[in-house]
Amino acid sequence: MSRTKTSLLAALALLSGTSAAALVSAPAGAAAAAAPCTVDYKVQNQWDTGFTTAVTITNNGAAKSSWSLQWSYAGNQRISNGWNAKVSQNGSSVTAANENYNGTLPTGGSASFGFQASYSGANAVPSTFTLDGVTCNVDGGPTDPGPTDPGPTDPGPTDPGPGGSKVANPYVGAKAYVNPEWSAKAAAEPGGSRIANQPTAVWLDRIAAINGVNGGMGLRAHLDEALKQKGSGELVVQLVIYDLPGRDCAALASNGELGPNDLDKYKSQYIDPITSILSESKYAGLRIATVIEPDSLPNLVTNAGGTNTTTDACVTMKSNGNYEKGVSYALDKLGALANVYNYIDAGHHGWLGWDSNLGPSVQEFYKVATTNGASVSDVAGFIVNTANYSPVKEPNFKVTDMVNGQTIRQSKWVDWNQYVDEQSFAVGLRDKLVAAGFDSGLGMLIDTSRNGWGGSARPTGPGPSTSVDDYVNGGRIDRRIHAGNWCNQSGAGIGQRPTAAPATGVDAYVWVKPPGESDGNSAAVPNDEGKGFDRMCDPTYGGNARNGNNPTGALPNAPLAGHWFSAQFQQLMQNAYPPLS
Ligand code: GLC
Repeated sequence: MSRTKTSLLAALALLSGTSAAALVSAPAGAAAAAAPCTVDYKVQNQWDTGFTTAVTITNNGAAKSSWSLQWSYAGNQRISNGWNAKVSQNGSSVTAANENYNGTLPTGGSASFGFQASYSGANAVPSTFTLDGVTCNVDGGPTDPGPTDPGPTDPGPTDPGPGGSKVANPYVGAKAYVNPEWSAKAAAEPGGSRIANQPTAVWLDRIAAINGVNGGMGLRAHLDEALKQKGSGELVVQLVIYDLPGRDCAALASNGELGPNDLDKYKSQYIDPITSILSESKYAGLRIATVIEPDSLPNLVTNAGGTNTTTDACVTMKSNGNYEKGVSYALDKLGALANVYNYIDAGHHGWLGWDSNLGPSVQEFYKVATTNGASVSDVAGFIVNTANYSPVKEPNFKVTDMVNGQTIRQSKWVDWNQYVDEQSFAVGLRDKLVAAGFDSGLGMLIDTSRNGWGGSARPTGPGPSTSVDDYVNGGRIDRRIHAGNWCNQSGAGIGQRPTAAPATGVDAYVWVKPPGESDGNSAAVPNDEGKGFDRMCDPTYGGNARNGNNPTGALPNAPLAGHWFSAQFQQLMQNAYPPLS
């Protein structure tokens, strides 16, 4: 889906440092509990030699201005790195101390951090934790005393409850919704059960999706199922809001049902009914993360006039204002619900990563989030790499690397971009958004469903230092022909599994594009979904300005966007990174 633009100018490299995310959340209604603190220690991801965790501490005692949590391991767990706390280990005993930005813990307040560790054998959850020397309750753990535990019906200190305020990061301490329809398709594929229980987003890609297309699940059916999956814990449901007037103005594969001037229809037949369902009281306990209109605002920035990537359709959508008005309206209406977290789509590094694009993008996002009824408080964060293939991290080179005195930014692949991967882009963008006036607690999401780039073609180290191009091309794990290629990319693999709070400022790695669903048809297909034939999905096409006139790298024989593409699903699993076991 997301597509690039080629850089116009070599601009100054103004790399921003990372700023700290405020991950301390204040409670809506503090539940009285006997123990002075509660610890929720969750193993988020575990593979044969390692694991990652999400730990939330809640202070039930007097307010603190700093904290230190200690525990010891019964096994051989060794922590390699932590985030949102200073984590150190001495033998089996571990100390996690606050960072300078999350030391304040009011009574009832909580803070979350995480870490990665290695282990072998069993990976038992520690039974005892002390906060500043005092033993805590362990949420659901073996030493949970029972009577003093708030229990399953207590909303808990970080739950906003109906009408409450939003938590800092909805993914922390929560499961995410597994879409049974996607799950069934994945499980029906040979080997598919390895990932079929992963959470993926539900795409509300047309008005009919609200009630269910062709007898499929509608929004209420998904939310009812989500309540079952939630049980007594917390759960995030991920919805993609994707039906703007004149949708997908720089491409054809995901053109939608609404014409360029159908703003009223978008409001009254799409956003209003969704808002009304989400506001039903029985769903108030669900956390709803909405991905707001992939590609739309980035298209206004790079493809709506004055560049060699301009399209007539994007010029129209910029001049009639209906992308902006539609996105503002969605932010305003959905953001007003206490349990909805809006994440605006921000393209990917290979699209907006040049300073000449990023500055204008930040201005565009701010404008849309502060006009037509929207305000920055309606925005929980931004998402990058939606349905795209850019890696979270390029392990074999950094943007600051030099080869024979030349910056690798002048390689053909990097092409003077200020970023070479999605996590650096997400964090750099976040800093600029906060500086522009967005909330300092802004959280980023990265779609990692298809950006793993494992398999036999994955380079194991940097390329040779014979030239900047040899160095970058020999080392990059992103094996695309050009970073502007976006349709059914050959060689791609499943990426990081969904993970909460993987890095400072990043709310989660998420699977928004459901693996196995096509990006677009590789030859013309008549259909009633409004979808066109975009030759970027045709493996025989020579490309356009948005991919530097390169071959498309698309897999052959692909069905319409959103339809099941078994061959792609199989290749994604085969090239998964981390690999599937
Ligand atoms: C594309 C399609 C849309 C589908 C989505 C997820 O954007 O246009 O119909 O729901 O991908 O696969």
